Amino acid sequence: MLSRIKDIVANLSPRLIEIRRHIHSHPELSGQEYQTAAYVAGVLSSCGLQVQELVGKTGVVGEMAGSGADQRQLAIRADMDGLPIQERTGLDFASHQPGIMHACGHDVHTTVALGTAMVLSQLGEPLPGNIRFLFQPAEETAQGAGWMIKDGVMAGIDAIFAAHVFPTIPSGSIGIRYGALTAAADDLELVIIGESGHGARPHEAIDAIWIASQIITSLQQAISRTQNPLRPVVLTIGQIQGGRAPNVIADRVKLLGTVRSLHPETSALLPDWVENIVAQVCQTYGAKYEINYRRGVPAVLNDLVLTQLMESAAQEAWGSDRVQILLEPSLGAEDFSLYLNHAPGTMFRLGVGSADLPNYPLHHPQFHVDEQAIVTGVVTMAYAACKYWQY
Ligand code: NI
Repeated sequence: MLSRIKDIVANLSPRLIEIRRHIHSHPELSGQEYQTAAYVAGVLSSCGLQVQELVGKTGVVGEMAGSGADQRQLAIRADMDGLPIQERTGLDFASHQPGIMHACGHDVHTTVALGTAMVLSQLGEPLPGNIRFLFQPAEETAQGAGWMIKDGVMAGIDAIFAAHVFPTIPSGSIGIRYGALTAAADDLELVIIGESGHGARPHEAIDAIWIASQIITSLQQAISRTQNPLRPVVLTIGQIQGGRAPNVIADRVKLLGTVRSLHPETSALLPDWVENIVAQVCQTYGAKYEINYRRGVPAVLNDLVLTQLMESAAQEAWGSDRVQILLEPSLGAEDFSLYLNHAPGTMFRLGVGSADLPNYPLHHPQFHVDEQAIVTGVVTMAYAACKYWQY
C-alpha cells in the first residue's frame, strides 16, 4: 500500500505544486474564502467525492465513500485562510492580493488534504470506511472550526487528522507530538475605574493608572508563586489605554491581553484566578473594575493511540531519521482543538524548512516553504488514513 501511495504521489507532484501555487497566489482573508472554496470544491468533485459548499459559512466538505466494511468514519481537516500581511517573498507566484498573504502555510494544508483525496481516490479500491474532508475557513481568527462544527461536520466522526507546517523542521521530515501540541488561548479585557483628581493631590483621588500597574505586577508575580511551574501560564497585557493629561490623575484604564495555558485543569481555573487578583488589588486601593474574560480555543491535546498511528505511518514512510518526536508544545493556538471536543484526533507538524534559504517564522512577510514538503505531507496523511481502520 505504501509503495503504491508513493508512486501515485510522485506522479501527482507537479499537479500538487500547481494547486499550491494557485492557492498561494490567490489568498483570501478569514471568512472570505469564496474563490479558494470554489477551487477546492472543483478539485474534490473531479476526484469523485460528494461535495457540499457553504458549510461553516465559506467551508467545504468532501465525502469519500468507503466499502462499508467498517462503520468507523475518519475526518481530515485543512484550513484555507490567509493573513492581512503584505507578501515580501519575491516569488513569481507571490500573492496577487495586495496586503493578503498565505503566511501560515494554509495553502500547503489545503493542498495536502486535496492531495490526500486525490491519492486515495486513485487507489482503485475503496477504503473500509468513509473519510470526510473538512476545508474550514477562518482559522486565523479562531472562528472557522466552530462554524463548521455548528453545521454538523463532526456528526458520526470517530477520529480526525490534521497537519500544520513548521519552518524549523526541515522539509522531508515530520514532527510528532504526544499530548499538548498548542495552548489554550483566552482573551482578557479589564477596565479599572478610579477617581480623577489633581496630579499634585493624589490622596484626594484614586489613581487608575497606578492601580493598573499594581494589577499587572501582581498577576505576573502570582503566576510565579501560585501556578504550578510545570503547568505553564503566560499572561500578556498587550494593550493599555488611560489618562487625559500629565497633571490629571486618570480615573479609567483599559487593559487588553491574552492568557495561555496547556493543561485543561489549569485552564478551567484561570478566569476566577485572574479576577480574584484584580478584585483584591482594586479593593485595597478603593478602585472598581469591569472584567471580561473570554474563552478562546482550548489546547490541542493529541490522542495517544492516533498519534502512535501517525508516528508509525511516518516512520514506515520516511524512516526514523525523518521523524522528530517533539519534546515541547507551542504556546500558540489552533482551533483544531474544537474538533477534539467531538472526537479524538492528532495533528502532526509538517517540516517545510529549506536547507539553503533563511527560514522565516510563520506569519512573517517573507515566510516560504520548501515545496517538496507537500509530497511528504500527502504520503504521510494518505498512508495514515489507510492504516486507520487497521487500528
Ligand atoms: Ni496556521
